[in-house]
Amino acid sequence: MSSFVDFQNEIYLAGLGGAVPELPMTAEGLAKRAEELLDPKAFAYVAGSASAERTADANRAAFERHRILPRMLRGATGPGARDLSAEVLGTRLAAPVLTAPIGVLELLHDKGEVLVAKATKELGIGCVLSTAASSTIEEVGAAAGEWWYQLYWPNDHELARSFVRRAEQAGAKAIVVTVDTPAMGWRPRDLELAHLPFLQGKGIANYLSDPVFRAKLATRPEESEDAMRAAILTWIGLFGNHSLRPADLARLREWTNLPIAVKGIVHPDDARQVVDAGADAVVVSNHGGRQVDGAIAALDALTTVVATVGDRADVLFDSGIRSGSDVVIALALGAKAVLYGRPWAYGLGIAGQAGVRHALRLLLADFDATVGLSGCVSAAELNRSLIASVR
Ligand code: FNR
Repeated sequence: MSSFVDFQNEIYLAGLGGAVPELPMTAEGLAKRAEELLDPKAFAYVAGSASAERTADANRAAFERHRILPRMLRGATGPGARDLSAEVLGTRLAAPVLTAPIGVLELLHDKGEVLVAKATKELGIGCVLSTAASSTIEEVGAAAGEWWYQLYWPNDHELARSFVRRAEQAGAKAIVVTVDTPAMGWRPRDLELAHLPFLQGKGIANYLSDPVFRAKLATRPEESEDAMRAAILTWIGLFGNHSLRPADLARLREWTNLPIAVKGIVHPDDARQVVDAGADAVVVSNHGGRQVDGAIAALDALTTVVATVGDRADVLFDSGIRSGSDVVIALALGAKAVLYGRPWAYGLGIAGQAGVRHALRLLLADFDATVGLSGCVSAAELNRSLIASVR
């Protein structure tokens, strides 16, 4: 059994010799360090959300309104004997945490997705690879432990099918269809810098390496700058798909036997529709507030979605997780697992694979400690009775 909280002893023992951690010990600290060190365009791309960033703020504020009621004197076991493991969509994880799909990681580190795959494998948790990645599905599959593939369903079903086939062949254990991004949100931080990385050919490695995509090109993109420009224009025409409907999930079901999760759901009617259409899971998420500003905080949508489809499908959660107690709150409100977003991306930009590992260990150790101090012996035991709503 894992004992993520041993990270604490490791740090205090090193402190006896005078060492203090080189990397910040909180998600907020990682964000601050990243802002100091990263190229402003890269930082803006990760930190930015849509419009006035009200939904990004609301994601955090919603956690402020939910508090844990820790239980005492329950004879809960100590570190090492706690069982934080979970099985989600048939994937066994050392803790109910996966890295959220984050695109264009080359803004932060060359081959970023491969480093994230290695860091998550080492810790026994999962990673979700973005369609908009800078490394290919095959490169990540070769490095990863348990991983899922996130599909941005292109405006061409054959290309979508090809991505899914490649992911399945490369060892993905589930397909996560993100439905909240038929187009990019209005993101002032990127607009101020006139920066959309895809137009520079970044974050499109999975398209450039795909046989169905390449068959649409007159010239190989590697041959010249003009050919690459033509490939990028082809990408622009294919990226978004405003016509996707729940019924399209039936196609996906024909293409693969892998479990299907639909990410980007906050409305209970949408949750019901996609589960009716065959989804095995929904990910309650507002994309970290990057799409519809003014949208409901993801945590505020969680309880209703769990009440609507929780008996028929697994409900996962992201948007606003920054600490171990946030994971406890989301799980206690009914999420089976959480996707962790921006903080590990900052870690990647600051210190590569070691930075991702550090960011993930912070979350997992804090989660481990909080489960135990709340009187629980397992992640599975977390439930609503541990949560109080406060104004
Ligand atoms: C994302 N997210 C995202 N989601 C997705 O399905 N495919 C993608 O390619 C991306 N790309 C992406 C890039 C960046 C820079 C960010 C910050 C986010 C959304 C991501 O999976 C997740 O929903 C959010 O990151 C959750 O919000 P927090 O917790 O990071 O604020």
